[in-house]
Amino acid sequence: MGVTDTTGEQAFDRARELKRFEESKLGVKGLLDSGLTSLPPFFIHPPETLSGLKPARPSSDPIPTIDLSGCDSGRRPSVVGEVGRAARGLGFFQVVNHGVPAEVLDRTIAAVKAFHEQPAEAKARIYRREMETGVAFFSNLDLFHSKAASWRDTLQIRLEPKADMEEIPEVCRSELMEWNQQVRRLGGLLMGLLSEGLGLNSGRLEELTCLETRVMVGNYYPYCPQPDLTVGLTSHTDPGVITLLLQDQVGGLQVKHGDVWVDVTPVPGALVVNIGDILQIMSNDEYKSVDHRVLANPRREPRVSIAVFCNPSNRENEFGPFPELVSSDTPAAFRQFNLNEYMTRFFKKELEGKSLINYFRA
Ligand code: OGA
Ligand code: NI
Repeated sequence: MGVTDTTGEQAFDRARELKRFEESKLGVKGLLDSGLTSLPPFFIHPPETLSGLKPARPSSDPIPTIDLSGCDSGRRPSVVGEVGRAARGLGFFQVVNHGVPAEVLDRTIAAVKAFHEQPAEAKARIYRREMETGVAFFSNLDLFHSKAASWRDTLQIRLEPKADMEEIPEVCRSELMEWNQQVRRLGGLLMGLLSEGLGLNSGRLEELTCLETRVMVGNYYPYCPQPDLTVGLTSHTDPGVITLLLQDQVGGLQVKHGDVWVDVTPVPGALVVNIGDILQIMSNDEYKSVDHRVLANPRREPRVSIAVFCNPSNRENEFGPFPELVSSDTPAAFRQFNLNEYMTRFFKKELEGKSLINYFRA
């Protein structure tokens, strides 16, 4: 008796601070605007995370940038080769000459930025974690499941099946609908190339409805006064089939290659594409869903990124490695599962780690 249980007290304080932050509906940008100059303790990551936050080493093996021009004609075999190599190697690549006009890229980034830079009350109205309406503003998807919070706010919108139109904030509504059309077209093109890269028919991924469910996150990474103590987004893999990412020119996204973190340096006009866990499973481990993270933003200007996650719409069907890729020499590396089971597991865990995909290993 008489001994204070400091660990218990700390856990209690932390839970109270998290709740207060959540109920304020301010997000990280709101905290910063309130004049804060040092991080609330619940944003401070454990030493093992912080010690690994060194800037990426200059790499002799950067993320490849693939030119998609002519991929519907004579250049297609070479483009398929490049896409397949990148998907098997780093699991990340950038694409240029993808057919999306530069003005559309700029407009989309500006619209998401404008959403986050509205007065706090306008954003608080849609601060929520439920996705029934298909529209939500929140800070940290895994706020209540992670060891520490990250320096980022998010506008999440279900693009397909479509969210309630009136719920989509007007400052970005028409721009995001236009973005949805572009992602549909380019997503189809990329799925064709990725299917062919596995030696399958061009339409194979789309037949399995892999492009039909699309969720967008408009991430806003405000200036961080103590960027060595936290992160913008913890290391994670994306759960879906593929992710298309539009980033501005600020930088901070890194991809893990072996033991080394490699910068995904912004290339003007380019889009970033990465392989998600479901595609790693469907490809029977040929394509790689790799860990990536975003450093806390040390610059005075905010960073904006827009990720669209493409997922199968058929949640009852069984998913697993393509039968064409399984043989006695290359047995199935994963068991079959349905997406309801898969997504339930995803939302119960923190973002970090490869536990999701490993759970489905054969
Ligand atoms: C994500 C993601 C990267 C970024 O939202 O899953 O990896 O640059 N985003 O914001
Ligand atoms: Ni991601």
